Amino acid sequence: MEWWNDWFDDRYLRFAVGLTNERTEREVVGIDELLALPSGSRILDVACGHGRHAIPLANHGYNVTGIDVLPWAIGQARHASAGTKSVDFRVQDMRTLDEHEVYDGAIFINTTLGAFEDPSDDLTVLHNIRNALRMGGPLILDCRHRDSIVRQCPPKPDFWEINGAIVRETWTFDPVTAIREGQISWLEDNQLFSKPPTRSRYYTIPQLRDLVVEGGFAVEGLYGGFSREEISLDAHLIMLLRKVEAV
Ligand SMILES: C[S@@+](CC[C@H](N)C(=O)[O-])C[C@H]1O[C@@H](n2cnc3c(N)ncnc32)[C@H](O)[C@@H]1O
Repeated sequence: MEWWNDWFDDRYLRFAVGLTNERTEREVVGIDELLALPSGSRILDVACGHGRHAIPLANHGYNVTGIDVLPWAIGQARHASAGTKSVDFRVQDMRTLDEHEVYDGAIFINTTLGAFEDPSDDLTVLHNIRNALRMGGPLILDCRHRDSIVRQCPPKPDFWEINGAIVRETWTFDPVTAIREGQISWLEDNQLFSKPPTRSRYYTIPQLRDLVVEGGFAVEGLYGGFSREEISLDAHLIMLLRKVEAV
């Protein structure tokens, strides 16, 4: 069983200190500008999690479908979107998504590209998103790149406090496999708890570029943030891609 089946749960939301409302608002503004699609366009949010982008994008006038493999995440998203028109959430593994030219644009934010045990799944997912898009449709892909991980090596444990719990994250990075393994633990009421370890492969920017081109996309822009900031060694990579005819 893959690690995220037990990882994304109420504790994820509780300890995800970086996932502030301000960050989500900034991302949604940037996504809207990068997509540059008319109101009413159909958007696919791949691995939508608890719907933090899908719901505001629907409120903004898009017609949004969010998919995620975890029933917990889809349950959260459905609950949060009660009363919101033009948004639909469904439990779906992106590796078996099989839709054809249904969407005008797609987003794949804070991605799990690289989290699959089998690296060929990354390409499968890109192909599936491509199939779901109309020709010329944009895909916004947001992920951490390998250099940003290497910049933080040697890894130091990170500590923070949330609602009375002391949280610690430790991790390792193997330069041969490019796999980062992480572990979050927390001390609460004098008891130590741990989440299952995370395990993800990280690509360099040139490797990501090759991967998306192989997946059938043209690279229109590479940015260090949703407001088209310059690429940074410390920030996530934001890729603006476009479905092109397969070569
Ligand atoms: C880091 S979270 C990002 C969620 C959301 N995009 C966001 O930015 O808040 C990664 C999400 O990917 C989902 N996921 C992992 N593997 C998946 C798969 N095979 N198919 C669909 N969703 C998947 C997880 O359940 C989790 O909700």
